[in-house]
Amino acid sequence: MILVTGGAGFIGSHTCVELLNKDHEIVIADNLVNSKIASVEAIKQITGKSCLFYELDINDEDGLRALFRSHDITSVIHFAGLKSVGESCKFPHRYYSNNVGGTLTLLKIMREFSCKSMVFSSSATVYGRDNDPPFTESMPTSATNPYGWTKVIQEQILVDQAKADPEMRIALLRYFNPVGAHPSGLIGEDPVGIPNNLVPYICKVALGRLPYLNVYGNDYDTVDGTGVRDYIHVVDLAKGHIEAMKYLDNNRGVLTVNLGTGIGYSVLELVDAYSRASGKEIPVRFMPRRSGDIATSYANAEKACELLGWKAELGIEDMCRDSWNYAQKKM
Ligand code: NAD
Ligand code: UFG
Repeated sequence: MILVTGGAGFIGSHTCVELLNKDHEIVIADNLVNSKIASVEAIKQITGKSCLFYELDINDEDGLRALFRSHDITSVIHFAGLKSVGESCKFPHRYYSNNVGGTLTLLKIMREFSCKSMVFSSSATVYGRDNDPPFTESMPTSATNPYGWTKVIQEQILVDQAKADPEMRIALLRYFNPVGAHPSGLIGEDPVGIPNNLVPYICKVALGRLPYLNVYGNDYDTVDGTGVRDYIHVVDLAKGHIEAMKYLDNNRGVLTVNLGTGIGYSVLELVDAYSRASGKEIPVRFMPRRSGDIATSYANAEKACELLGWKAELGIEDMCRDSWNYAQKKM
């Protein structure tokens, strides 16, 4: 059985759907700090399959131990973590404690039960600001904020753990910018309050709930001066986890791999695509650069293709269409 921590969240719920579609048995552990139980119901509705759910904080050592005692957990897909860059700057201790502390507790319990396989949600944020895109996995890592440092540190912990135990199988998946939603419109990303990330913000503007999009910076050295990112459809991303798990079945040690499309779009290009998909005007207002942002981020996506046989299939139109479908149904 596969333990999915954070499985009620945005990327986790989409991955649970793909796992169930492939007939894997799963148990979700999520404390619902940034998600709702409704997404677990939606996972069941989409797949027509059942999955177990525990409302559990991964920092709760006894709770995790009880879960491992009740189920034969052979591998873990570890999404659970806090992910707001801005919040991490205000409350760094909360981020280190939840994310790094949570991973340490999880590893401790995995060791107790001889569970040796983990797929970990890392991020393109670990490329920091000193590398030139396209980012390749061998580049040095760093971060510009506490959230990013929790990812750098968690990667290091997992690498060291695998060095100490040659039986371990770890995949560090560096996600680029996950967007979109399941085509059913039943699961997607709906952050609480005013969104920080671009696509959820655009959704609210398209829905008429916010008047315009603030575009942070139009003086970058990019195609139109606005920031460029590698947006990846969350369903493609979810499928990448299935391929990473298959890879770990046959390979020990640490796999570090980018999950991106290899293509960058500017903020204005994305706004344009979203406007076409939704048929809504998305007014924009240019603002100063957002602190900590880099001009351009996109993946070299070759390693995932070579080692996992995985590449993103869905394009920016699919991302905008599915995001808009979800926004209209659920936001
Ligand atoms: P999300 O917030 O939707 O999902 C994370 C889930 O983890 C939530 O359901 C939350 O309730 C749960 N959680 C948090 N702390 C927990 C704890 N201590 N115990 C149990 N559950 C806990 O976020 P997401 O976008 O689905 O991200 C999933 C993972 O991918 C995170 O680790 C995130 O840092 C990473 N990631 C996300 C992005 C992105 O842009 N969305 C990019 C790169 C990496
Ligand atoms: N942007 C705007 N206006 C907004 C929000 C964003 O112009 O209201 C711009 C940003 O300046 C940036 C681009 O849109 O150029 C994308 O910004 P996001 O906040 O959507 O995404 P980031 O690339 O800043 O970061 C995201 C996650 C990080 C993660 C990173 C890489 O928030 O946690 O992707 O995966 F590490």
